[in-house]
Amino acid sequence: MDIDSFRKSAHRLVDWMADYFQSVETYPVKSQVKPGATYDKLPSSAPEKGESMDAIFRDFQEIIVPGMTHWQHPGFHAYFNGNSSYPSVLAEMLTATLAAQCMIWETSPAATELEEKMMDWLKDLLHLPHAWQGVIHDTASTATLVSLITARETHTGWKINKKGFQGNERFRIYASKQSHSSVEKAVRIAGLGSDNLVLIDVDKQYSLSIADLKDKVKADLKAGFIPLWMVATLGSTGSTAVDPLKEVTEVCKQYKIWLHVDAAWAGTAMMLPEYQWLRQGLEAADSFVFNPHKWMFTNFDCTAYFVRDAESLQRTFTLIPEYLKTRSHGRVNNYSDWGIQLGRRFRALKLWFVLRNFGKEGLRKKVANHIKWAQDLATDIDRHPQFELLAPAPLATVCFRYRPPEVSDDDLNALNEKLLHELNQSGKIYLTHTKLADIYTIRLVVGQTYQQKHHIDKAWEIILVTACQLS
Ligand SMILES: Cc1ncc(COP(=O)(O)O)c(C=O)c1O
Repeated sequence: MDIDSFRKSAHRLVDWMADYFQSVETYPVKSQVKPGATYDKLPSSAPEKGESMDAIFRDFQEIIVPGMTHWQHPGFHAYFNGNSSYPSVLAEMLTATLAAQCMIWETSPAATELEEKMMDWLKDLLHLPHAWQGVIHDTASTATLVSLITARETHTGWKINKKGFQGNERFRIYASKQSHSSVEKAVRIAGLGSDNLVLIDVDKQYSLSIADLKDKVKADLKAGFIPLWMVATLGSTGSTAVDPLKEVTEVCKQYKIWLHVDAAWAGTAMMLPEYQWLRQGLEAADSFVFNPHKWMFTNFDCTAYFVRDAESLQRTFTLIPEYLKTRSHGRVNNYSDWGIQLGRRFRALKLWFVLRNFGKEGLRKKVANHIKWAQDLATDIDRHPQFELLAPAPLATVCFRYRPPEVSDDDLNALNEKLLHELNQSGKIYLTHTKLADIYTIRLVVGQTYQQKHHIDKAWEIILVTACQLS
């Protein structure tokens, strides 16, 4: 491809992108293709001779697009939204064009310094403690692993980094039964062993039980274990339950446990004055993670990770081989010392575009609307005689099931699984499920960037009609 064809193709692709955004509602939200369908349409090896962009782009539209689930469709209510937005997409185009490795300050000073500034802006926007320092990671899973390894190293005086496990470390990790699977993954990867992850009971709201936490910590101490690290979740994946952070901080302080706060999705709500209760006690946490790539309309991947003690974090992860030594060492920030990867994408750029283009006011308005529409829906569901709300909806996720009186309790799980399947097959909306107290629970998340109130009304109407046609 020469530069003239690049220019021509780029214009064509941008037109396609704008058309896609305008017409995204005409696609089935969840891809309808069968397993293997995309694979079978692709040749068994790469072409010997280069192909034209026309041919490649035609196949993109004919083979790839049908096999995509449309996460930017306003009927997307599954998981937690992995959002983008127009300014974010534009920034991604520039990031791809610059294609810089932003591992150390010298490899792109602006990338490092913009990241530092964006972390300051996020602290201001979410009312996080001023003294914290932040870094962008790829995912919350990575940030959680980084937090655990830092806690492990800080506790042992950086000995495991150097000598490895000596066989006598008896660490315990705590998180609620509703915490995200990334917690157990981190425990495994950090070499602490899933058996040492102590899952704490939850109350009727699916929030961590402080009484059970205290009992389990005390029992562990009695048995000779060392309580090392715990995760408090603000907005659990299943039902967006909020752990009692203030009480958790007291337990952590008493037993010198590192406290990591996982607010992957819900953290964004801290920008709203009426959601300041979410962050009560937060200043006592050791680390905190939230994902602008979820509810802050910034393309995946973009996780904001904040720590109280950036020195311990860097001491845990810094490794400077000869080829990375620079004259600026000690005077500038090298973000590859703040985590696992050496090579780093320029992720701060899209955050900058999003924060500037929406403005704090624009972001607050969007998130407040999502919460309002979700809560109106929760009220409608609660009032409907054949539906049941299964968990509180403190934010913008609604957990419910269909419960027609003629169906016995034993058959409700299967009925709701069928309902979810039918809804997703319709291609009009996409929802996912969880189990709460062994009950098959349908989750509906409001939070796609360009969703409007009428999309939520339509989703509810589709649910009602589909449920009616089931029996
Ligand atoms: C509460 C919570 N923590 C962590 C994660 C993991 O996020 P990521 O995909 O960025 O690793 C999720 C994902 O939805 C989540 O809901």
